[in-house]
Amino acid sequence: MDEKSYIVITGATSDMGIALSKQLLPVYNLILLDINESTLVNTISMLKNINNTCNIMYMAIDFNDISAVGKTFQDFLKKYNILNISGLVHIAGIAPVLPLKSTEIEDWYKIFNINLLSAVEIIKVLIKKQYKYNMKSVVFLSSIYAHFGGKAQIMYTVSKAAIEAFVMGASVELAPIRVNTIAPGLVKTNSMSVYGDNYAEQFESKHLLGGGSAENIADILYFLLSEKASWITGQTYIVDGGLSVNALNL
Ligand SMILES: NC(=O)c1ccc[n+]([C@@H]2O[C@H](COP(=O)([O-])OP(=O)(O)OC[C@H]3O[C@@H](n4cnc5c(N)ncnc54)[C@H](O)[C@@H]3O)[C@@H](O)[C@H]2O)c1
Repeated sequence: MDEKSYIVITGATSDMGIALSKQLLPVYNLILLDINESTLVNTISMLKNINNTCNIMYMAIDFNDISAVGKTFQDFLKKYNILNISGLVHIAGIAPVLPLKSTEIEDWYKIFNINLLSAVEIIKVLIKKQYKYNMKSVVFLSSIYAHFGGKAQIMYTVSKAAIEAFVMGASVELAPIRVNTIAPGLVKTNSMSVYGDNYAEQFESKHLLGGGSAENIADILYFLLSEKASWITGQTYIVDGGLSVNALNL
């Protein structure tokens, strides 16, 4: 019998999702969630080429369809008779660039659905009595934008700050399940290309240690999932290559 537990990863086909999956492969089974089925299938075939001994399941799901998320996830677990889930990492997120005056209420609903509420619905399944016993750790992706304002980033800032508040509240309610989040500075992922080289270079230059990599983020996510972090809950870790301590050096 396979005794490895499962880790659920949302935003699993992102650079951070892939970097984390690569680290987890030897130790855990994986349930990968993301919006696009063919990208999930390609990601799994790449991961299987690296390590074929781990069981990798996937589910394509649009987190903006929030009322369906909990039921769809629970039906998936029932269908494949999966009970032994020990962790959730919520990487899925969007960062629309919109000044306040241009935001519509649907934009606010959407960013909250994807960045926070989809994970809330998944957690509500994982704390049902048949799963709760195995659950150990939940880790969210916040952002340094939860701590500093940025032009046309108000929805992103608010959604990530909400994650950090949720983590505090949930850690109290869910103990001994540990709930933590990390708040990265610039991580050089595919999604950053939309901002253009200029923005990325300028922003990166403010980081004492330069911009981060998806692997840097996977390292701390892995740590927070693991037993090495067994006495840590309710926390936000700023992982920003020295961006925030350098804020006054203009
Ligand atoms: N890149 C950075 O500099 C940086 C910094 C701080 C925090 N973050 C956070 O890290 C996470 C990953 O960021 P990234 O830069 O790799 O971005 P990304 O756009 O590459 O990844 C986001 C992931 O979310 C998934 N997703 C988007 N909409 C979805 C939906 N409706 N339903 C289901 N899944 C959906 C995408 O498919 C993708 O896999 C995000 O939460 C982001 O806010 C990124």
